[in-house]
Amino acid sequence: MIQTSAPAKLILCGEHAVVYNRPAIALPLSNLRAYAEAQPAAPGAGLRFVAPDLGADWNFADDPQNPLNELAAAALSYLKAPVPDLTLTLRSDIPIAGGMGSGAAIGAALVRALAVYVGRELPPAEVSALVYASEGRYHGTPSGIDNTVIAYEQAIWFQRCPPEPPLITPVTIGTSLTLVIGDTGVRSATHLPVGAVREHWQADPSTYEDLFDAVGELVLRARDALAVGNRVALGGILDENQRLLAQIGVSSPDLEYLVGEARAAGALGAKLSGAGWGGVMIALAPPGGHSQIANALYAAGATRVRVATVPGNNLDSWQ
Ligand code: MEV
Repeated sequence: MIQTSAPAKLILCGEHAVVYNRPAIALPLSNLRAYAEAQPAAPGAGLRFVAPDLGADWNFADDPQNPLNELAAAALSYLKAPVPDLTLTLRSDIPIAGGMGSGAAIGAALVRALAVYVGRELPPAEVSALVYASEGRYHGTPSGIDNTVIAYEQAIWFQRCPPEPPLITPVTIGTSLTLVIGDTGVRSATHLPVGAVREHWQADPSTYEDLFDAVGELVLRARDALAVGNRVALGGILDENQRLLAQIGVSSPDLEYLVGEARAAGALGAKLSGAGWGGVMIALAPPGGHSQIANALYAAGATRVRVATVPGNNLDSWQ
């Protein structure tokens, strides 16, 4: 049996503006994953999908419009492989429509399982490109940051540069960070706030371009703060990013409440993460401060709280 997986992701800063060619920083969450298991089936059985979390079970041949069938078809065509006799079981610990990239992670695990089954190991760039094409069909105008951070599974700086390929570079993290992730419990499909931002941008381009520029500048400052391990500066940047996201129109009363309570409980900074209108928020904890923030988030009504440690990758520059 073949088992493959892919991680969840968090956007540290720069969501939405990244769709409009400003930079953003994203982190993988390696302890929260989606999995694909490939089990050979009887000759002639064809490709069958099982998704126990959704109580779903379907055949590849039955519904060509199904997004996962389309992704499998694209992956098999890319791999120049015939439709295999295979059962693919898809499982995920990542909440659906929660801002943590569940769709892209399931897609990446699926593509990897098909590749391994036909005896290939695809590099991250190829997994990412296949998942991006599939996300693009269903999410309107994705920037590509989600599939990229999930496929590469490392902290990245990402900037679209059309018509050139996006700029993707690893991000230096000077000291480990503890992020407390609070889930509003509100599920919000990415394409809804992304579509609303596009309408606002079309109606008032100069205001929105200014907002996106301001986010882009914050992301530059965040890269510097991360590199030298300055948590206090980074926290302030997250707070400023949240203020801009509210102006962009993608926050919500639930998100604002959790963000406020996290700050009151000692977070160095807090913001929504992902597309907004629901899903998750993140709070940067001071050393030793994550339990207090986690308790405050539960008390404020978060349906789930997770604590993620982002390891430093350049420990020479402690501050
Ligand atoms: C979603 O994780 C991030 C957004 O910026 C959309 C995108 O970049 O495609 C809101």
